[in-house]
This record gives sequence, C-alpha cells and structure tokens, in this order.
Amino acid sequence: MAQSTKAADLIARSGVPAYVKHGRLIAWVEEMAALCEPERIVWCDGSQEEYDRLCEEMIAAGSMIRLDPAKRPNSFLVRSDPADVARMEDRTFVCTTDPDDAGPNNNWVAPAEMKATLNGLFKGCMRGRPMYVIPYSMGPLGSHIAHIGVELSDSPYVVVSMRIMTRMGAPVYDVLGSDGEFVPCIHSVGMPLEPGQKDIAWPSNREHKYIVHYPEEKSIWSFGSGYGGNALLGKKCFALRIASIMAREQGWLAEHMLILGVTSPAGEKSYVAAAFPSACGKTNLAMLVPPAAMEGWKITTVGEDIAWIKPGADGRLYAINPEAGYFGVAPGTGPDTNATALAMLDADTIFTNVALTPDGDVWWEGMTKTPPPELIDWQGKPWTPDCGRLAAHPNSRFTVAATRCASLDPEWDNPNGVPISAFVFGGRRNDTVPLVAEGFNWNYGVYMAATMGSETTAAATGKVGVVRRDPFAMLPFCGYHFGDYFNHWLRIGHTVDQAPRIYCVNWFLRDEKGGFMWPGFGENMRVLKWIVERTQGRVGAAETALGWIPRYEDMDFRGLDISRERFEQLTRIDAELWRRELEQHGELFEQLKSRLPREMTLKRELFALDLWRDAA
Ligand code: OXD
Ligand code: MN
Repeated sequence: MAQSTKAADLIARSGVPAYVKHGRLIAWVEEMAALCEPERIVWCDGSQEEYDRLCEEMIAAGSMIRLDPAKRPNSFLVRSDPADVARMEDRTFVCTTDPDDAGPNNNWVAPAEMKATLNGLFKGCMRGRPMYVIPYSMGPLGSHIAHIGVELSDSPYVVVSMRIMTRMGAPVYDVLGSDGEFVPCIHSVGMPLEPGQKDIAWPSNREHKYIVHYPEEKSIWSFGSGYGGNALLGKKCFALRIASIMAREQGWLAEHMLILGVTSPAGEKSYVAAAFPSACGKTNLAMLVPPAAMEGWKITTVGEDIAWIKPGADGRLYAINPEAGYFGVAPGTGPDTNATALAMLDADTIFTNVALTPDGDVWWEGMTKTPPPELIDWQGKPWTPDCGRLAAHPNSRFTVAATRCASLDPEWDNPNGVPISAFVFGGRRNDTVPLVAEGFNWNYGVYMAATMGSETTAAATGKVGVVRRDPFAMLPFCGYHFGDYFNHWLRIGHTVDQAPRIYCVNWFLRDEKGGFMWPGFGENMRVLKWIVERTQGRVGAAETALGWIPRYEDMDFRGLDISRERFEQLTRIDAELWRRELEQHGELFEQLKSRLPREMTLKRELFALDLWRDAA
C-alpha cells in the first residue's frame, strides 16, 4: 500500500473524535503519519483515565516505577538513557532563510537543507509505536494572551508530562474550532521498532539528535531525545523560541521569567517578573518563604520559568505563566532551600533520574542533610554514601502540577494576567555586580539586562567561574537575532504608559575567602521589599553610576546580622572591575553589531564616562 493510503487508513482507524473539527489539523496529522509510519494514531483527550492508563502501560513496559502509594501517592520514577539527560544547546537550531534573522545567538542551518535531513530521519521513525496527538494551550484556555500548540509524539512519557505541564486535552479543540491557529510540533524519540523487536526502558537515538525551529512557518521538529525541553515542546521550544518571534511580530514579550506576587503587611499586592539563567534558583525565588522577622510579608507564585507579557488597555504590562506545571531541578530542593517545593512533591509527581530508596521513595542530594545508608542511584545501580558517585543526576527533575504548590497565587489562572510593577534580572556573579540596582529609566534597564552575565557551573563547561554573557537570561531561548530582540524591548517600553521599573540583582557575591556574602533564599525578601517599595515611591536610594542603589538605612535588616561594612561590600562598585566588565559588553556588542540598536553602544560610552568621573 502507498504510504499516503496507509496514512488515510490509520486516520480512519484512529476514530477522529467528533469534537476535532479542524480540517487543516487532521490533514497535517495524516501527512505526518505518512512520513513517520506509526503503528496507530491516538487522539489524546487529557483525561485522568488516559493518564492512568499510559502510566500503567509504562510500568508494564519497565519504563516507569510506581513509588510506594503510602509514601508518595500517585507518583512515579523514570530513568532516562544516561546519554539523554538535559537540553542540548549544540543540537538546537533556528532555520531562517536569512542567517542574520537567527543571529549569532542561534545555530543556523538553511531551512531546505534541514528539511532534507529531517525528512530522512523522520521517515518511518515511529514504526511499531503509536503516534499520540497532544492538543495543548499555553496559558489559560481562551485567554487573549494564550496560544495553542499540537504536539505529535511517539512517547507516552511526553503525553503524561504534557498533561501536567500544560492545559492539555479535548477542551483545546473547542478553542481551536474549525480553523484556529496552532503551532505544529512533531517529536520522535527516533527509535522505530521492527516487528518482534523488544522495546527498551528509555528509547532515544544515540546517533542523531535535532531540536529544530522554523520561525517562518512557526513549526517545531524534534528528533532523538525524550528528555525535558527537548521533548515537551510547549516549554522552551514553543513558549520561548517560537513565542519570542511571535511576540516581536505582534507587540508583546515571551520571556524566561518567573512571576511572583509580593503582599505587604498592609495587604498591598505587587507583581514582579524576574529573569535568571538556568541553575540560579528561580524556583526557590518564586516560592520564597520570608524570614520570621519580616512577619506579614508574603510571596505567592504565578510562575517559575516562563512569562508571556502583553500591554493592557490601561497602559500597564500584564503577564501570564503559559505553563500549568513545574519541571524543576530536584537536587538542592530541601527543607531550608525550598520547603514549599518539597511539600508540593508529596504526591502526584513524576520524578526523572532521582535515586530510589529501598522502601519505594525518592531521594536526591540536598533533600536531607544525611543521605540514606543505601539507595538505587539514577542509573539503577546500588549506591552507598561512600561510593563516590552522585545518587541523583544533577539535572534530575520533578514534574508536578502548579495546583500542588501551596504558595500558588490566586490569580495564577487569570486569563487577563497580572500587572507587572518591576522586572528583575540576575546572574551568578562572584564580584562586579552589586546586590541590587535600579536602572535610571527603561533604556538603562534594557542595557543592564542585555549585558547580564552569569558564571558557568561545572556541569555546563567543566570550568567554574567563566562569565558567559546571557542577555535577559535568554541566550539558549531567544528565537531570533539578539540585536532585534534588544530593539523590540526598547520599543515595548515606549509603547506602554506605565512601563515597569527595571532592576538587576546578584545573590552570589563572594568574599576574599570565597564564601557567599549574602545569605540568599528567604533573605532575598529584603531585596524584594526594597524593590516594590521603590516602585511605590516609598523608600530612598543613592544615585551611582550604575543606577539607584539602596543605602543601609533603606533596607529592612530586622533579624538579620548584616553590618554596615558588609552592606557596603555588597553594594560596592569597583571601577577597575567595571572597566573590564564594559570591555566584555563591547565584545558582546561586536558580535551583534549587524543589528545592534545604537542606544546600546551610546549607553556603554556614557557608562564608561560616569564610572571614570566617579572614580576620579
Ligand atoms: C530550565 C532551564 O530547565 O532553564 O528551565 O534550563
Ligand atoms: Mn528555565
């Protein structure tokens, strides 16, 4: 039978649900089925029964372990292939006709060349496996800020994860109607099964991995990996890379930002959106528990990874969290660092690559001070505390619904979003960048965000302490040329009447002995308090070359032992370090020069003059 006849037959046998009325969508599923040759097509409805059935199937196939229902009800452990454990920036591509549209911040291949490669790899790639059709909304269903995607995948792990991470299932088709817009996303683990071939616990393709975006047609193709952002295509691929392109075209922002609510003891509420590179504690900040001495202050969580932000009719910017769940890093999540996250993982959670305890529970480094005497590690091998290996993979994850989070903000699902009062940008810097600074104005803030850097961690490069420029914490996620992106940010600030103020923060300053100077975690509440009070015009600051910086007396240090001298170190601007910093900004600008807004180079020169004047 010709492939197209077979695909039509597969569609007919799949029983397209009556509520799927979108001819273009059905035709696309058929076209993809003709290419991938799945054994059958499954239209996912997002129901609990479907979720439970797929989990049972994965347990029977040996790719999922049910944890002890008494200890962690409805929770599971999955172990990935050791070669498929993280996002792969070097296998991520943005394919535009003009390479300059993708910019030096993306890996580029011409669309026709990439399509030829992918058509070869996708041909027959789902043989022996089902093709799941996964409809999902990024953002509350029907919200004017939300957008829809449909992912085709041959991985049941992707289906159950997407059900947690997005608003997934049959109601999406009501919003889509017969001709609504959706982003087509196709994913395959890239391991077809020949008749009689036994499957393995975590199928993937060890030879070929591609995570590909076509900005001009707004589609996503992912091959060879089953892990996280490589496979759950609503997250980094759609909600950041493709959405950042849509946002530029349509006049909004798609950002790598958490969104939190700050409530004062008087009951006043402000919302802050904050961008940090991966591994800088975004989930911890989004679920911060204020110190006891700051009684009455409260943090609530709207999102912990991504924000979609649109101008509202009242001249403010409104943000939604397009996700419905958290795909968080497990190691380091403990009672002192993030008690809220730890409690939310008590039930209904899928864990990936953490360790298993002999009594059917999970463990990771940082969950308890003393590790259990014996475990099964993330690769399924016996583990003891003295064996010299980590029990959980450093990028091991939990996948859990937002509704399990005790600090969830009551407005988290509001289709109109929440009004943003401040943007915060932070990196991991040993020195140079002070604890907090407020940009003098919008353009100033955009400059600070555009030039932010973060020290790499050992896991990423093997070298600790190398500063990687990560503008807006979007380096791996901006789907187009950073120069155009900076321009877009400059423009947005001038199209809204009440642009939020912009701050930069650094929780990671170290002293001469290498110790952290700032306690971080819950104590970051003190910085958040200063920020929201600044936006309300209630607290003072000192003017410096870098912007407005709090004086000792502007901060609430009740119950925290921070001397004036220590605070001065935390807010010091060292002219020599800044001279070097500005050189590095210059190197970044040189790379982006074909599209860099002139404001950036002018601001850099002004900065240099101000620093020189202050130092003189
Ligand atoms: C993430 C990341 O997983 O930023 O959220 O890497
Ligand atoms: Mn992230």
